[in-house]
Amino acid sequence: MSGHEHSRSGIKDRALTLLALETSCDESAVAILRHGTDAGVEILVSLVSSQADLHRAYGGVVPEVASRNHVLVLRPLVEQALEETGLRPLDIDAFVATRGPGLASSLLVGHSMAKALAAASGKPFLSINHMEGHLLSPFLNDPQSPIENPNPKIPSHLSLIASGGHTMLVHVRAMGDYQLIGRTIDDAAGEAFDKVARLLGLSYPGGPEIENHARGGNPRAYQFPRSMPRELDFSFSGLKTAVRYTLPKVENLKDELPHLCASFQQAVIDVLVDKSLRAAHETGCNLITLSGGVSCNSALRSGLATACGENGFEFLACPPCFSTDNAAMIAFAGLMNLQAGRHGNFSEDIDPNLPLCAK
Ligand code: KG4
Ligand code: ZN
Repeated sequence: MSGHEHSRSGIKDRALTLLALETSCDESAVAILRHGTDAGVEILVSLVSSQADLHRAYGGVVPEVASRNHVLVLRPLVEQALEETGLRPLDIDAFVATRGPGLASSLLVGHSMAKALAAASGKPFLSINHMEGHLLSPFLNDPQSPIENPNPKIPSHLSLIASGGHTMLVHVRAMGDYQLIGRTIDDAAGEAFDKVARLLGLSYPGGPEIENHARGGNPRAYQFPRSMPRELDFSFSGLKTAVRYTLPKVENLKDELPHLCASFQQAVIDVLVDKSLRAAHETGCNLITLSGGVSCNSALRSGLATACGENGFEFLACPPCFSTDNAAMIAFAGLMNLQAGRHGNFSEDIDPNLPLCAK
């Protein structure tokens, strides 16, 4: 064991303060988590600096622009997080960063900075799968509500992760024991929102734009397809094409926009809900969780909550403030991994294609 790695029992059994960095795509994020014996898991600070404005002109994320901006923003963001919590680097027990999946040049910025901070303070460094961060985020307490579950344990459950890069159904058998049972065969759900928003002349990221315009729209105005590929997989590219072919026939786009947005959104929700219920039945899980950027969508949250209630499943969604990319979920995944017995490892490198588990 190197001088930077604490013994397993040392780091597992006492109050811990973790600082995490997340730079897998176009969000620079820093969070500090404290896990005390009484107060439970507390996110002391969670800062996210979004680059959405920089990428908007391109309609999507430009890797070179993203990594340069992480370099500019990350250090001041770490300083701000320490200042807001009154902590010094030496007060941090372990530094955590996202290892992958994501853009290589973006991942490198946060990963290298967390390693450097850990090395300089003689503390462990741990790297985390971004998708595991999303997957565990429903068990993170909403800072707006009283702490209900101070020492979260991860039960067996069915996890739906819907983000800009991934749409996954994962059978979580226990903490760290994941089986990928469904995924998209083309576009991810968030990607479909972004691409359809672009077709409709709305800005990036498209999810919040479509959700806003869908309010007051009729979700049954347009019959868009509910593509149901094999088993528990998803496909959203046909839906995007259906919107594309519909648009030239629409006479007054301004008036029809709410109906187009609501109908598209409903088609995505119907598929996500249907497959999640099927997956939960097939795996015998009685809890379904929802996470990832698309889980911000309140129609999806309430649609899945209602369907779970009607079918006898429990439902837990990620707190909206931790749905899109953030470092609090990475810190939390770091804590859960440390508690599960994993320890720091300075030799880990980034992996842009890091799988959550083999299918
Ligand atoms: O998890 P995330 O922040 O980044 C990835 O790991 O990909 O997810 C970003 C995605 C984007 O595609 C964005 O359009 C989508 O989440 N999104 C939404 C909403 N807010 C963000 N999709 C639907 N409705 C929303 N309110
Ligand atoms: Zn993400």
